[in-house]
Amino acid sequence: MKAVYFEEHGTSDVLRYGDVPDPELGPGEVLLRMEAAALNFNDIWARRGLPRVELPLPHVSGTDGAGVVIDVGTGVEGVAVGDEVITYCVNCCRKCPACMSGEEIFCREMKLWGFQTGPYDGSYAQYAKLQAEQVTPKPTHLSWTEAAATTTSLLSVWRMLVTRAQVKAGNTVLVWGASGGTGSFALQLCRVLGLRSIAVTSTEAKAEFCRGMGAEEVIRGDCEDVHQRVREMTRGRGVDIVFDHVGETVWPISIECLAWGGKLVICGATEGFEPRIDLRYLWNKQLSFLGSHIGTHREWMECLKLVEQRKIHPPVTQTFPLSECIAAQKLMEDRQIMGKIAIRMDSDD
Ligand SMILES: NC(=O)c1ccc[n+]([C@@H]2O[C@H](COP(=O)([O-])OP(=O)(O)OC[C@H]3O[C@@H](n4cnc5c(N)ncnc54)[C@H](OP(=O)(O)O)[C@@H]3O)[C@@H](O)[C@H]2O)c1
Ligand SMILES: [Zn+2]
Repeated sequence: MKAVYFEEHGTSDVLRYGDVPDPELGPGEVLLRMEAAALNFNDIWARRGLPRVELPLPHVSGTDGAGVVIDVGTGVEGVAVGDEVITYCVNCCRKCPACMSGEEIFCREMKLWGFQTGPYDGSYAQYAKLQAEQVTPKPTHLSWTEAAATTTSLLSVWRMLVTRAQVKAGNTVLVWGASGGTGSFALQLCRVLGLRSIAVTSTEAKAEFCRGMGAEEVIRGDCEDVHQRVREMTRGRGVDIVFDHVGETVWPISIECLAWGGKLVICGATEGFEPRIDLRYLWNKQLSFLGSHIGTHREWMECLKLVEQRKIHPPVTQTFPLSECIAAQKLMEDRQIMGKIAIRMDSDD
């Protein structure tokens, strides 16, 4: 089959478009003919390589996808050949106490599909295999590319805001990196949950896009003083929640922007993992720092309802054929995207 893959870590130069072995189906698994995939920044992390994280090589990235079931392994129930499905990225043992209690993200064998699985095992390919529990019927009103772009970002955002930060209607949320995949779903979810969102983004075109996603206010982080603007917008009080995935460079500003008793929820650190902190702020302001990672299947079902009800829509702004996935990754790495980028399989041989 055709796929985009790499055999060693590095810049986008290590990415190849070409033939790789077809997936071999095991018990409890389903085989999909992929119709579309979507990019996440973790595809970039996988390609670059991370300290103390060993990924199987050769590697096909891609943790989001949508396609048609073309085969099912032994023991699979509830999924049939011909089903049109979207993927849920958590691959786990399905028998430990965490898995049995619906907290599969704490399974010691948990792997993010297309990131830690492999070799050759993500959605940047014409065919992919997953555990049967990892597929869900595709919402019928979505195109293939929209369906593919629905899962990982939305699910992560849901867990961050609803489960971890336990937001309440009327809360004010500062959203960093607001124009990207995670950020734009966060703005939409804030609108649905009755939260006041303040988006931080980096160009005027992105600011306009954020308004379209539901941002009540927008700060241009590239040319405005974010803390000063937050003070003006909140009459000196600060925000209840900071939603972050940018990390090191914005961490001190986030702490300044938080109201007393505020919460910082974080799922990533695109700009670095080792921020400095003056711990006096932590106790004097009585802040909470919350980590969040992906989400459970139960949470996935909850946020998918909002898509089915058409309250949240996957913000796909660009699509590329699989053969041009490398160019798409470059745009993401160069911070030149808005919303989600999707990959179509149809134009490939
Ligand atoms: N642990 C989890 O469950 C989880 C889930 C999803 C994402 N993440 C992490 O969250 C981060 C964002 O992921 P994503 O898929 O939303 O990425 P994305 O679609 O590329 O969005 C990231 C946004 O962050 C901003 N940004 C700030 N500094 C940047 C830099 N140096 N390079 C690129 N973008 C930068 C940009 O928005 P502006 O220009 O508007 O500022 C960009 O659009 C990644 O680090 C990812 O690994 C973690
Ligand atoms: Zn388990």
